[in-house]
Amino acid sequence: MTKRSFCVAIDGPAAAGKGTISKAVAAHFGFAHLDTGLLYRAVGAGVLAGGDAVTVAKTLDPAQFDQDSLRTPEVAQAASRVAVDPDVRSALLQFQRDFAEKAGCAVLDGRDIGTVVAPAADAKLFITASADVRAQRRFLELSGKGMDVTLEGVLADVKARDARDRSREAAPLVAAKDAVLIDTSELSIEQAIGQAIAAIEKIKGA
Ligand code: DC
Repeated sequence: MTKRSFCVAIDGPAAAGKGTISKAVAAHFGFAHLDTGLLYRAVGAGVLAGGDAVTVAKTLDPAQFDQDSLRTPEVAQAASRVAVDPDVRSALLQFQRDFAEKAGCAVLDGRDIGTVVAPAADAKLFITASADVRAQRRFLELSGKGMDVTLEGVLADVKARDARDRSREAAPLVAAKDAVLIDTSELSIEQAIGQAIAAIEKIKGA
């Protein structure tokens, strides 16, 4: 009997803990993991370097991604801006679906995984937290890497991206109707990971 594939969709706003939770979930279950935000960040970085968004999106090579340079607030904003363009989204859609199909068992995290990229995902989680908590975490992460950021600046960045990601017409950030909601505002990393794994175990076992 062939093993049935299993797809986990993890969505939520900026800095809610999706990345950490997705990595831990993928490691726990032995699934592949794709951080789809990195694809949008790579397109944003390409545009900041003078490229055309759709052309960059169609010619991405994730093997060449330099994660550190993609994780700056400037690139995050550029990613959120290019993500409004339906042509950019459709260029990246096939890449994401191919990844999930090839991997068989995969965790994809982003903004529209449970609603658009993998609406038939077996398990869907929507990870959220208050804007203040998210900004505080992102501020600690970025300043810990030596970046010259302020808490106010990071909060403004998080709020601006939330507003743009939620209000765009193409695949806006919204929880899928069948997603399990996890608010990490009051949770430790371990507790948040524990809740995510428990929710997926429950769905797998059902
Ligand atoms: O998850 P992230 O912060 O790395 O994402 C950066 C931006 O990319 C985010 O503000 C919106 C966009 N994005 C998207 O529109 N759809 C996704 N599936 C992932 C990211």
